Amino acid sequence: MLKRYRLSRPVPLTLVPKLKRPPATGLFIAFEGVEGAGKGTQISMAEAHLRSLGLDVLVTREPGGTVAGEQIRELLLDPATGKLDARAEALLFAASRAQTVASVIRPALAEGKVVICDRYVDSSLAYQGWARGLGEPDVLSLNVWATQGLFPDMVILLHLEPELGMARSEDEPRDRMEQEGQQFLAKVADAYLKIAEEHPERFVVVDANRDPAAVFDSVREALERAVHERDDHHPTS
Ligand code: TYD
Repeated sequence: MLKRYRLSRPVPLTLVPKLKRPPATGLFIAFEGVEGAGKGTQISMAEAHLRSLGLDVLVTREPGGTVAGEQIRELLLDPATGKLDARAEALLFAASRAQTVASVIRPALAEGKVVICDRYVDSSLAYQGWARGLGEPDVLSLNVWATQGLFPDMVILLHLEPELGMARSEDEPRDRMEQEGQQFLAKVADAYLKIAEEHPERFVVVDANRDPAAVFDSVREALERAVHERDDHHPTS
C-alpha cells in the first residue's frame, strides 16, 4: 500500500514545557536590545548588584561564552566573512547557543546560580526572524530545538530608538552585523517591541534613552522582582 509522507511541520509550542528544563533553583535572565543600547554597562551593574545581595552570578554572552562559541562568533561578526545566507547565519547563532546552553548555562542553573546572558533566543527572533526575514516561527523552532526548550525566566529589553543606538556606537569598530546599517536596525528595534508585546510574561521593557543610573533603577526593580519570584517558588533555596 502506498504510504503518504508529509513534510515535517515546525515544533508546536505546546511541546516546549515538556522539553528539558533543569529542576533547579537557578534564575536565568537575558538582556536584549539593539547595538548601543547600553547592555554592557547595565549587565555589569546588574552583576554587581546581584552579588551584593549575596547571589552567585554567572555572566555569559551570545554568541560565545565557549571556545567553539567564540570561534563561531568570530566567523559571524568578522566583516571578512562577507555575506552569509540568512539560514546559515541563523544556524550558526543557534549552534553557538546550543553549545553555551549545554556546557555553561544548564550546569550553572543546576547549581542554583543566577545566569545573566548578554543576548539569547530573542536576538535571533529579532535579527534573523524579522530583520533578515526568515520568519519568527521557523527561527523559534530552530532555537527550541537548539536549547532543548530553555527560555529565560526574564528578558530585560533595553529599548532605544535605532537612530540613538547608532549614534552612541559610532566610534566603535563596526562588525559584520553592524554594517547592515540604519534600516536593518530599525527593523530589529521594531521586532523586539513586537516580540515583547507578544510575550509580556517574560519581557520587561526598559527605556534605555536615559543616563545609566536612571536606566539601572528600572533594571534593578525588574531584577529584584525576578529574584523574589524565584524565592517564592523555591522557599527553601
Ligand atoms: P555583540 O557584540 O553581542 O553586539 P552588541 O555588543 O551590540 O551586543 O554582537 C552580536 C551581533 O550579532 C549583534 O549585531 C547582534 C547579532 N546577533 C544576531 O543577529 N543574532 C543572534 O542570535 C545574536 C545572539 C546576535
